[in-house]
Amino acid sequence: MTGHTNDSGPSRRALIGWGGAGLALGAAVAGGAVAMTGAGDDADPVAAETGAAVQFHGAHQAGIATPVQDRLHFAAFDVKTDDREEFVRMLKDWTAAARRMTAGKPVGEGAFDGLAEAPPDDTGEAMGLKPSRLTLTIGFGPSLFDRFGLRDRRPEALVDLPTFPGDNLEKARTGGDLCIQACADDPQAAVHAIRNLARIGFGKVAVRWSQLGFGKTSSTTPDAQTPRNLFGFKDGTRNIAGTETDRLKKFVWVGDGDAGDKDAWMAGGSYLVARRIRMNIETWDRTSLQEQEDVFGRDKREGAPVGKAEEHDAPFLKAMKPDAHVRLAHPDANNGITILRRGYSFTDGTDGLGRLDAGLFFLAYQRDVREGFIPLQRRLSAHDALNEYIQHVGSALFAIPPGVRDADDWWGRPLFSKEA
Ligand code: HEM
Repeated sequence: MTGHTNDSGPSRRALIGWGGAGLALGAAVAGGAVAMTGAGDDADPVAAETGAAVQFHGAHQAGIATPVQDRLHFAAFDVKTDDREEFVRMLKDWTAAARRMTAGKPVGEGAFDGLAEAPPDDTGEAMGLKPSRLTLTIGFGPSLFDRFGLRDRRPEALVDLPTFPGDNLEKARTGGDLCIQACADDPQAAVHAIRNLARIGFGKVAVRWSQLGFGKTSSTTPDAQTPRNLFGFKDGTRNIAGTETDRLKKFVWVGDGDAGDKDAWMAGGSYLVARRIRMNIETWDRTSLQEQEDVFGRDKREGAPVGKAEEHDAPFLKAMKPDAHVRLAHPDANNGITILRRGYSFTDGTDGLGRLDAGLFFLAYQRDVREGFIPLQRRLSAHDALNEYIQHVGSALFAIPPGVRDADDWWGRPLFSKEA
């Protein structure tokens, strides 16, 4: 940590010694997210790279095509107010807070500078931390549209997810009127962000469930080393990279003409499926290496598809067992279905039966779930060899609106105002 605290309560950016110079806008990242790398500052270059801020404004929300950060705090909220004005005011306050926190600044007047008689605007635990590539991505669940006169604006694609074979969903970990996905390279930056949004929303929304994630299980940067999931396999080998503008356009971003007038407000947005998938670690760890490799259709060391030598060699699906995960999930076996996976591992202690409560918090973005997750999961839930070792215990679907355009824009404006 390079920052030094002092009594004047400076911004986190000032604390890390970026000299107060305007952050240079660095390499453009597809999806409108621009990494503010701090290039041009004479601060520690490593700190600038790993601690950089990601541009909050853009055509699409950051946190989707943005190179995957190390940590996640995901929260689903229930709405507690019937007052549309009050809810819209909260969305505006949330946007202002998100804009500051993603730039590495504290909320409002910060943790120390406000009135001594009032609770501080910011809870303070991120003071002195770098922006840590924090991204905050908002989503609207199907149940939100039962409120505030929004029924006519519910997108066709925001369906109620069907029940899949093997689902064992816990109500307390399922659904939600809204969600915020906070991703950052420092877990404290992500947790601080969710905590402060929940605090600002007090009385208007309440956290329904939340999930911490570590160890990303997907790669959205072609050159990065592919991370491994808790079963020890490379995960995210074949994914959509944040730089693949054409594939993002085709498979992830909602297009202008995708829907009628009703959901024109979603153009530039996406749909997010979140599934808490418990992994039966203890059973897996007693399974032979051969069986493990057969389950995925890839080898454990390299991540190479069956019969091939390198991780990125094209899979020959017929060489895999008919129920291998990759054989069943590959686009060639699903009429081209392609989703952007952005999940994280989790370990939430033990389950009281001596087993780790661990697994994959699966996050997938797509242009339309009816042509993405739903048909894919129908297939996997019926046939995948992996099913013996996993169980889906939480589930939610959210409409992810387009990006916040500029300093006057706010989360939800396209939905709550008439002009898109
Ligand atoms: C705990 C549950 C899961 C685990 C451990 C897991 C693990 C893996 C692994 C190791 C790969 C191969 C490497 C790669 O290309 O990324 C893979 C590929 C893939 N998985 Fe999963 N996965 C899980 C659940 C799911 C679910 C629920 C879906 C979608 C409904 C899914 C969709 C895919 C897709 C589309 C691919 C790429 C197939 C290809 O293009 O070759 N996975 N998964």
